[in-house]
Amino acid sequence: MSRKTNSLILMLVGFSCIVILSLAAFRLLTPQEDLKSKYDYKDFESAKKCRSCHPGIYEQWSQAMMSQAYTHHWDEIEYFNLAVPHAAAKPDLKDPVDGCNGCHTPLAFIGGKQFPPPRPSEKSMANESVSCEVCHLTQSAQTDPPFNFSYLIRPGMTKFAGRTPTVESPAHKIVTNDFFRTTEFCGNCHNEKNPFGVWVKSTQLEWKEGPYAKEGVHCQDCHMPKGGPFLNALMTKPYNDARIHLFHGAHDPGKVRGTIEVRIHPDIREAEPGESVIFTVALFNQKTGHKFPTGSVEDRIAWLNVEATDSKGKVYHLNVDKKGFVGEEYTISGDYLAYQDMGVPLGLPDFKGVQRDGIPTGDRIFRMPYFDPEGRMTIMQWNTAKQGVDYRIGPRETKVEKFTFRIPNDAAPGVMTVKAVLNYQLLVKPVADFLKVPPDESEIKHVNDHSTSIQILP
Ligand code: HEC
Ligand code: HEC
Ligand code: HEC
Ligand code: HEC
Ligand code: HEC
Repeated sequence: MSRKTNSLILMLVGFSCIVILSLAAFRLLTPQEDLKSKYDYKDFESAKKCRSCHPGIYEQWSQAMMSQAYTHHWDEIEYFNLAVPHAAAKPDLKDPVDGCNGCHTPLAFIGGKQFPPPRPSEKSMANESVSCEVCHLTQSAQTDPPFNFSYLIRPGMTKFAGRTPTVESPAHKIVTNDFFRTTEFCGNCHNEKNPFGVWVKSTQLEWKEGPYAKEGVHCQDCHMPKGGPFLNALMTKPYNDARIHLFHGAHDPGKVRGTIEVRIHPDIREAEPGESVIFTVALFNQKTGHKFPTGSVEDRIAWLNVEATDSKGKVYHLNVDKKGFVGEEYTISGDYLAYQDMGVPLGLPDFKGVQRDGIPTGDRIFRMPYFDPEGRMTIMQWNTAKQGVDYRIGPRETKVEKFTFRIPNDAAPGVMTVKAVLNYQLLVKPVADFLKVPPDESEIKHVNDHSTSIQILP
């Protein structure tokens, strides 16, 4: 064989390898079935229909955020005022922004033809949000790990569930499916990878690497606890282990309260003005199965505020001691402007940004910052090119913070009380105020507090 044919064969072999490899990669990356606009709205049933026989579960669900995932004010504002105009300005964002609906209103994503779907005020079927049908038509996850609405859903009169029923339903067939008892079921929407390949939501992945996965404690055990006697359908008997559809999370102050336990102690009990006292705060994550905060991490902050009150009632703010890790500046509140990338969708080319944190300077913040392609902090998860230091509190993790406090010369002699308070906010307030998000989304939620005291010597 001539050298020419040899190299031709080599080239052909090389080429077919590339084709085979890229085909294999394509298979792995593409879900088996793209559900976008695959069916019609009318192929699905409304939750109102399920209510006639499942009134208890319907009323529980209707109070949970998942029944409002499309209609809730902040979702409407972020989608219609930021995401949709951003995609209009940058056409390669169109697909990911249509994809918001894959998790927030799957029936409009699968059954609708119009993107964006009608506004909530138009009362279309998009308002069903994450409805009974969405979950009870789900058969499996199409990817491993599950993420970005990787559910496999087919409309029809066969509903899936974990339990084997005691009576037949006159309205639909029931097929039991163990997938309902897994965390992957929730991970279909509670893990999200954005166009930059960044995991902007990873609640199920956080769970998987934490202690609860090893113990077999699933999302359902904390967010849909078993209880009874409870009638899950009108024609059946009450069960003592019915799955209560609470889905309570960050919007339920009672769920958030006490999540982290807080204790504070001084290194010495008596001090004179001018002397330094070191206060140590331990924060133990007792309640969450994932990190705290989790989910919409770009919006959420938890922060530790420590204040001393002397015997005359004068209040002093304590600054957290720096630990010196990379990116720490994002975990200590400061006086900075951020979130300038909102200027693009809002049509404000010279937008200077708003205050990064909006809380007292020097407090410790438990968060993970998200950065836009220009390295500025962002709350637009789809525009996140990079994440910063992950300084959230993991499941059963304890974080220890120190506050070195030089007793001020004007501190009154007597008992000085020092109080540590852990607060939580769904959406940083300067952003909420700027975008006119109703105040309940940025109100301060009290997680926990603890006090100690020292004696100030004259
Ligand atoms: C005409 C009454 C009726 C309507 C309407 C109805 N169901 Fe049911 N459903 C039942 C009955 C009865 C059962 C059996 C309950 C049992 O024995 O546990 C049942 C069971 C189920 C189960 C399985 C739970 C189990 O106990 O195994 C699911 C899931 C379910 N229904 C979903 C739905 C959804 C979703 C809708 C609305 C699209 C709906 N149902 C509408 C009567 C109804
Ligand atoms: C976010 C997903 C989700 C939504 C929304 C949802 N369910 Fe469920 N439902 C589940 C899961 C998961 C289970 C099974 C848990 C298990 O078996 O461990 C379940 C169980 C049930 C059961 C059986 C309860 C039992 O006692 O075991 C019924 C009936 C039911 N759902 C009906 C409904 C109806 C009606 C709606 C709407 C009003 C609804 N579900 C909305 C996820 C969902
Ligand atoms: C089809 C997508 C989808 C699936 C499946 C899903 N979720 Fe959600 N979930 C959402 C969306 C979207 C939100 C955000 C709602 C909002 O706009 O505030 C949410 C919010 C929540 C919240 C936060 C509530 C709050 O008070 O802030 C909890 C808790 C939750 N889901 C639990 C679960 C659990 C447990 C499962 C599995 C049994 C599950 N979800 C499955 C889409 C889904
Ligand atoms: C051991 C109990 C436990 C388990 C297991 C658990 N959670 Fe939670 N979850 C909580 C508590 C407590 C909160 C309230 C504090 C908070 O907001 O993080 C919460 C909050 C949430 C929130 C709102 C978080 C936020 O900051 O916006 C979501 C979403 C959520 N859980 C989803 C899930 C999913 C999905 C799983 C399974 C992969 C899961 N949870 C497993 C206890 C649990
Ligand atoms: C892979 C599923 C998924 C995709 C895609 C998705 N979301 Fe979400 N979104 C969720 C879940 C789950 C939560 C709840 C997390 C939590 O409670 O912390 C959420 C929370 C939110 C919240 C906060 C709600 C609140 O009340 O605090 C907003 C706003 C939001 N999403 C908007 C969007 C927009 C806009 C897009 C598209 C650019 C989008 N989401 C894409 C699953 C998704």
